[in-house]
Amino acid sequence: MSRLDSFIRRLSAQRDVLNHISGEVREKDGAILEIGLGNGRTFDHLRELFPEHRIIAFDRAVGAHGSSLPPLENLVIGEIRETAQPFIGSEAVLFHADIGTGYDDKDAKTLTWLPQLAAGAIARGGLAASGLPLEHPDLEALPLPETVDEGRYFLYRRR
Ligand SMILES: C[S@@+](CC[C@H](N)C(=O)[O-])C[C@H]1O[C@@H](n2cnc3c(N)ncnc32)[C@H](O)[C@@H]1O
Repeated sequence: MSRLDSFIRRLSAQRDVLNHISGEVREKDGAILEIGLGNGRTFDHLRELFPEHRIIAFDRAVGAHGSSLPPLENLVIGEIRETAQPFIGSEAVLFHADIGTGYDDKDAKTLTWLPQLAAGAIARGGLAASGLPLEHPDLEALPLPETVDEGRYFLYRRR
């Protein structure tokens, strides 16, 4: 599969997973943590899906399109491994992480801290959606929508 096809499938999977859980997330309180703001396209989708929720976005630098910038109080700049620590225990309703790189060695480093961060930041019953697998005893894997192939995106509930 070409990288273009793979990219398109990953983004479709991301959108389908977020749409799939939107009804449940809307009914619950708690912030949404957007891990990896990037260009802000996903942030914009989250904002459209969840207009009533606070969405806090993280990145090492501001690279988002001007139309998709969170307000300053909801933007956390720096290395996520460090900047997200204060959000452990924040009882977030949704943790969404799109920080995979496609390089196995880099992603392996990220996976030394990302699952623990997700499990710590989400409230019991809250959800995590991620492009990288989040293996943690407190995170139960959930079925994906039928449009998403196994392993293309990952969805969990905090036990
Ligand atoms: C694939 S992009 C996210 C794309 C985003 N979903 C969008 O709609 O544009 C990943 C982003 O995460 C950021 N990132 C990845 N790992 C990070 C880390 N450890 N700390 C801070 N930012 C990180 C990168 O700078 C990049 O902007």
